[in-house]
Amino acid sequence: MILAELKKLEQEAIAQIAQAADDAALERLRVQYLGRKGALTGILRSLRELPPEMRPQAGQEGNRVKQTLEQALSQAQESLQAAARDRQRRVGLDVTLPGRRPPLGRMHPITRITREICDIFIRLGFEVVEGPEVETDYYNFEALNIPKDHPARDMQDTFYISENVVLRTHTSPMQIRVMEQQPPPVRVIAPGKTYRRDSDLTHTPMFHQVEALLVDKHVTFADLKGVLTVFVHEIFDPSVGLRFRPSYFPFTEPSAEVDIACVICGGVGCRVCKETGWLEVIGAGMVHPEVFRFVGYDPEVYSGFAFGLGIERIAMLKYGIDDLRLFFENDLRFLRQF
Ligand code: FA5
Repeated sequence: MILAELKKLEQEAIAQIAQAADDAALERLRVQYLGRKGALTGILRSLRELPPEMRPQAGQEGNRVKQTLEQALSQAQESLQAAARDRQRRVGLDVTLPGRRPPLGRMHPITRITREICDIFIRLGFEVVEGPEVETDYYNFEALNIPKDHPARDMQDTFYISENVVLRTHTSPMQIRVMEQQPPPVRVIAPGKTYRRDSDLTHTPMFHQVEALLVDKHVTFADLKGVLTVFVHEIFDPSVGLRFRPSYFPFTEPSAEVDIACVICGGVGCRVCKETGWLEVIGAGMVHPEVFRFVGYDPEVYSGFAFGLGIERIAMLKYGIDDLRLFFENDLRFLRQF
């Protein structure tokens, strides 16, 4: 009698589970049959009232039906979920849509300007060379006529790696490295990263310079002025003003600094040019005879000029950017504009 009741309940439940349309329907069926007040639970509870000899068989059958229903419920739930995933996939796939292109990177503005600068000098007959950013004291200072106790060392706040090893504070050590390697004539530029303990609107701890060095017989300051004027007119345009100011570097004599009319304010004065109308961009001069002696060139026979220009400063003027630090914050909204 009770076995028949169980059989009937099992068949009924299985049929209903098979027709359940969603999770909620399955949950209702679970409560209806297996919940605390469910139909199967009721039957199992009533087994206690059976005569003892009938209990084991009825108990076994009751447990089997319970397991069967639990299994049926979880299988139904899984197949409902699989069907839902399948539907979603079909709805989400429109094979007629054009494919999504991976975002294309572009050159960092400093890289672009560096290449532009190099191209100008290559057209003028210069060769591009590169050298180490971690430099010895000898190349960064000594051989450039800046001995240990020289006050000019204070002009550049240096990052020291150890007593005799520094992060190069300028690209000028490349002058020495090149001249050590070859006899004159020399006509090279050396772009690269340089480091100083500096940070404000127009200074960053890492920045880029391009060094230029030209050595030959009969090179004069007029050649230096000529090359720099051509360069400034090429990179900006011929209407942009530049001026040479007397200056001092231990490795050049005479020395000059080259300022470019502030493109940001048109020369009337702003926070970038510190209200002067001019921005210092290049350090330059005629190679000091002492430097020639360090590399074994004869200063009686050869003369030359050298200069180092700040790439970020040129980029600031070219793109009208009033804070140099923006170049290195890696904010894509800034970088995408170039
Ligand atoms: C020098 O570094 C010399 N080596 C240049 C030189 C080379 C002179 C050859 C003579 C012969 P100076 O410290 O002025 O000079 O720096 C040169 C240029 O680098 C500056 O005009 C400026 O444009 C740029 N510069 C200097 N410090 C920073 C900085 N912290 N951030 C960005 N640009 C800088």
